[in-house]
Amino acid sequence: MCGITGYIGYREAYPIVINGLKRLEYRGYDSAGLMVCDGNAVYLKKTKGKVSDLEEITKEIPKEGTIGIGHTRWATHGVPNDVNSHPHISSSGNLVIVHNGIIENYDTIKKELISRGYDFQSDTDTEVLVNFIEEIKKKEKCKLGKAVQLALTQVVGAYAIAVYDKEKPNEIVVAKLGSPIAIGVGEENEEFFIASDASPFVEYTKNVIYLEDGELAILKKGKEIKVRKIKDDQLVDTNIQKLQLNLDQIEKGGYDHFMLKEIHEQSKAIKDTYRGRMIANEGLIKMSGIDDNLLKFINANRIIIIACGTSWHAGLVAEYLFEDLARIPVEVEYASEFRYRNPVIRTNDVVIAISQSGETADTLAAIKLAKEKGAFVFGICNVVGSSIARETHAGAYTHAGPEIGVASTKAFTTQITVLTLIALKLAQEKGTLSKSAINNYLQTMQQIPNQVDEMLKSDKEIKEIAEVYKNATNCLYLGRGFNFPVALEGALKLKEISYIHAEGYPAAEMKHGPIALIDENMPVFVIATKKGHYEKVVSNIQEIKSRKGKIIAIVTEGDKTVTEIADHVIQIPETEEALTPLLTTIPLQLLSYYIAVMLDKNVDQPRNLAKSVTVE
Ligand code: F6R
Repeated sequence: MCGITGYIGYREAYPIVINGLKRLEYRGYDSAGLMVCDGNAVYLKKTKGKVSDLEEITKEIPKEGTIGIGHTRWATHGVPNDVNSHPHISSSGNLVIVHNGIIENYDTIKKELISRGYDFQSDTDTEVLVNFIEEIKKKEKCKLGKAVQLALTQVVGAYAIAVYDKEKPNEIVVAKLGSPIAIGVGEENEEFFIASDASPFVEYTKNVIYLEDGELAILKKGKEIKVRKIKDDQLVDTNIQKLQLNLDQIEKGGYDHFMLKEIHEQSKAIKDTYRGRMIANEGLIKMSGIDDNLLKFINANRIIIIACGTSWHAGLVAEYLFEDLARIPVEVEYASEFRYRNPVIRTNDVVIAISQSGETADTLAAIKLAKEKGAFVFGICNVVGSSIARETHAGAYTHAGPEIGVASTKAFTTQITVLTLIALKLAQEKGTLSKSAINNYLQTMQQIPNQVDEMLKSDKEIKEIAEVYKNATNCLYLGRGFNFPVALEGALKLKEISYIHAEGYPAAEMKHGPIALIDENMPVFVIATKKGHYEKVVSNIQEIKSRKGKIIAIVTEGDKTVTEIADHVIQIPETEEALTPLLTTIPLQLLSYYIAVMLDKNVDQPRNLAKSVTVE
């Protein structure tokens, strides 16, 4: 978590740094700070609160400086306050650092530094790191780059850092291990941009270098960038990539919130995800990551899916898809549990890792563990060039475009889209579905984007339902089969942005415990689509009704039975049961969104959360 930005070049650094922080605020938003230098004087400001608070207190700082670094924080060590905010300065006042990640052995280093006379203002691991670099610089009488490198060889943990030295006012040193860092390269190396992802510099340059783990770079205006390995000091070839990102993709485009924009982008995002990967009327599915590794998938004893949060819910949908359509056994694992419990991985197991950001620390660590145990690991990521995309043996991008709202929306539906295509491809190759069944699925899939659009147009009833239940303190979400994971996802969306307690359950499990919670104050959101064990779900609804629970049901259009019993119904268009999660998800996202807006919550930046969880 945390976002870092930086600039060194010929332009005013302040607007680049502060606007960059606004774009990275999804990564953390409990405090923010920046440093700007005009080659002589250094101006540093930091504060608890949002980037807008930082902007407020930096109105007066001289803006001529052409070097700057900035930080937006998600607290790990030390509560969010002014002192713990970044940048941090070394004891001499010469070195300035911003850091994303955690230094695990900071306490040992801190004690050592205290014994040498250092004192500390903050509770952070980052202040320890900057003083450690200073100590090494003094002791070894070396330059900043070397001191950073030597310090990092002794550090345990994860970091993306940018360090500035007042004694060397024309360079910034950056380094990475476990947390992302992108470097934008200007024309003739006359300027460099630093950021946790490329969005802060998209309007300035399309040339980007993504540092790999264990790499360090020294950025000097007008000089070719040099990237070296921290451990063995070897220079590595710099791989300058072309950025596939436009400004309008990272702006709100007239919507009140990124979340609403991203909910509305889903029809396009789903289409972009399957575009070029299927020809529906020919029954053709083409995905190079799968095609190139087809035998591994076909001969798989089982597929193990690892992910966190919403991506884990998409993995659960995939369990139903792969088992039902392609008859491959699937286990879905929380990455954070998988990595810590010595999992059994056998030959012919295939691991699929799912991650929107491609940076989730637990998923990344689980991938590394699976690889160590000899597994073939396939990644499904949204962010191109992300750590998980690079760490996996092969993969497929979701092509959802940037997702900035902290609550995941289009990432979920596009992950399901990719997973459905993979399941169908494997079903085709294994012969577990007939040609006509596959054609039917693909053709039905092509209708989904329009159906999503239609549903988004008629959100009046969803607003009305939100109005009725916005003051609920607890909610239940129930679904069966393909829609059980959607129930989990619906509950997660509500709790993370409105702070209303909500639980998702397989509908039939309700009678084994949660039914005790049902009374006239309990709203129960039930997914009751036509072909999804409909009669059984109807019985579950009756059980709730007879205990006076309030039923909000998501039904297939034309539904009669549930419509008669439920307090409110939301209709989805008719589709194949396996594809219903792509539709049933939409009203649940909207409901959470409207409830959070009505409660005046910060929809795009819910408390305590951050978009990419790069801490373990
Ligand atoms: C929920 C949400 C999180 C993420 C989780 C995994 O709305 O956004 O639960 O899904 O942190 O993130 P990724 O997919 O980036 O690995």
